[in-house]
Amino acid sequence: MGLKTCRLIYLPKIADARGNLTFIEGTRHIPFEIKRVFHVYDVPGGAARGGHGLKLVHQFLIAMSGSFDVTLDDGQKRQIFHLNRAYFGLYIPPMVWREMDNFSSGAVCMVLASDYYSEEDYYRCYEEYLRAVRTGCSREIPDQ
Ligand code: TYD
Repeated sequence: MGLKTCRLIYLPKIADARGNLTFIEGTRHIPFEIKRVFHVYDVPGGAARGGHGLKLVHQFLIAMSGSFDVTLDDGQKRQIFHLNRAYFGLYIPPMVWREMDNFSSGAVCMVLASDYYSEEDYYRCYEEYLRAVRTGCSREIPDQ
């Protein structure tokens, strides 16, 4: 897939004098069904998160509050995205390495994922990730 498939997606925003409302429907606003939601918060100043690639899972990241940077790397190119609003997010397909840093105080990163958590789906080692990208063995289907 690679970096060209990664993109910012703007979500519906219902503006109202009482406050704004944004919603996300799986396969309508983002290109996968949502099977898991998690959030990263109370990140200490200077800390970094991520530092992994996922074999099969698609993710969508939103800065629900505050801001942070996401650096994406597909083994050939790197690109940095700054997330700072709750009405858009970053779509990351499988087999893209990601790192998150530069968290503002009070930042909350919500992540929508296409599947349940499985450590088997992770590349935790960048060299191992690179080898998988370069040898094209990223399409392995895990044992059911
Ligand atoms: P990890 O994905 O490594 O966090 P980050 O990349 O943001 O630094 O997850 C941190 C820990 O939390 C790791 O031990 C796995 C666990 N975890 C779950 O149990 N379920 C989940 O859905 C996620 C995302 C992580």
